[in-house]
Amino acid sequence: MQPHLLHPLPDERGYFGEFGGSFIPPELQSVMDAIEAAYREVREDAAFLAELSRLFRDYVGRPSPIFHARNLSEACGSPIYLKREDLNHTGAHKINHCLGEALLAKRLGKKKLIAETGAGQHGVALATAAALVRLECDIYMGEVDIRKEHPNVVRMRILGANVVPVTHGRKTLKEAVDAAFAAYMKDPVNQIYCIGSVVGPHPFPMMVRDFQSIIGREAKERFAEMTGGLPDDVVACVGGGSNAMGIFTAFLDDAAVALHGVEPAGRGLDQPGEHAATLSRGKPGVMHGFRSYMLQEADGSPSPVYSVASGLDYPSVGPQHSYLHDLGRVNYAVIDDDEAIDAFFRLSRQEGIIPAIESAHAVAHACKLAGAHKGCRILVNLSGRGDKDIDFVMAHYGARYGIGSPLG
Ligand SMILES: Cc1ncc(COP(=O)(O)O)c(C=O)c1O
Repeated sequence: MQPHLLHPLPDERGYFGEFGGSFIPPELQSVMDAIEAAYREVREDAAFLAELSRLFRDYVGRPSPIFHARNLSEACGSPIYLKREDLNHTGAHKINHCLGEALLAKRLGKKKLIAETGAGQHGVALATAAALVRLECDIYMGEVDIRKEHPNVVRMRILGANVVPVTHGRKTLKEAVDAAFAAYMKDPVNQIYCIGSVVGPHPFPMMVRDFQSIIGREAKERFAEMTGGLPDDVVACVGGGSNAMGIFTAFLDDAAVALHGVEPAGRGLDQPGEHAATLSRGKPGVMHGFRSYMLQEADGSPSPVYSVASGLDYPSVGPQHSYLHDLGRVNYAVIDDDEAIDAFFRLSRQEGIIPAIESAHAVAHACKLAGAHKGCRILVNLSGRGDKDIDFVMAHYGARYGIGSPLG
């Protein structure tokens, strides 16, 4: 048994305090029970764990390095270190849990992997894993995101996945989750819904966190080698919350390490529908099969949400984040669109690293912390690379940052 795949929470019913659980139709519950039983088996199965470790090393390129961003540190006033999940095969942290979920699906005899995607990173990672384990793959994606994240849509199709456009509502991430759930319900025996974050009914928040926890274990070890100690602050962006739980889990018991989750303030927190700051503005409710904080209307239905980062505009958040929020163990802050885009250019121009707009939210907050607490050592989870975002950024922000057409 590898102790790193275990953590005392959730309890046996899938709760982190009052959050989590499984709010699904009875016919789906038996399928979830089978997935949970299989997961509990594989996490103690030496052959499964060896195969996952082999893929992490030889396929993903793990361990991902930590880079001391000296130029950014100097400009901001405190040492900033980046955990380079952007260097993983497929360009983000999402591949960590997709490989775990795909291997599990294969063991369960499933025929098709299905999922939602916002920024396209989870979709690309799952399409990649599906190709590798030779399973069919359907990815549900909002029409707005299909236009915005075009390079990732092309990638998924080249990899052999079927990209299904979602055309209702705001046509973004929440609607993509709705559509993927509906498709899953049609055949939960032969299909498996590989949820893209630490959300959904039990056991997904636990399973996705465990597969992602490789980030924090590696980071803790390497950071100690580089600096002789622990970071003072660990920062990660929070959409559903998988990259954040991935890095936070290793530091939860280190009281001296302050943990910071960064949610998107979009166009402004005071404008309903123009942000996705669930923990700052939401309240507990049930959505997509689990109980957590959510942004909701007076009748309890999910509110419309928005962020410049397609991977962050989700009206709820993983149940463990809600628990850690109420416990006060993690500080949840917000960064708006303009601050995120500024950090996107800052990291590109000061360090030669183009971050995903999602990850740029974490970079922006790290810069604020660096200025406010001079001398603190800050570790940022750079969850993904920005290749997917360059056309969108160029079209909407190029002029502001002085890059028009090269031909003038
Ligand atoms: C690069 C990147 N970072 C972060 C996220 C947000 O997801 P999570 O909060 O589950 O890490 C996404 C989602 O698409 C992403 O693509």
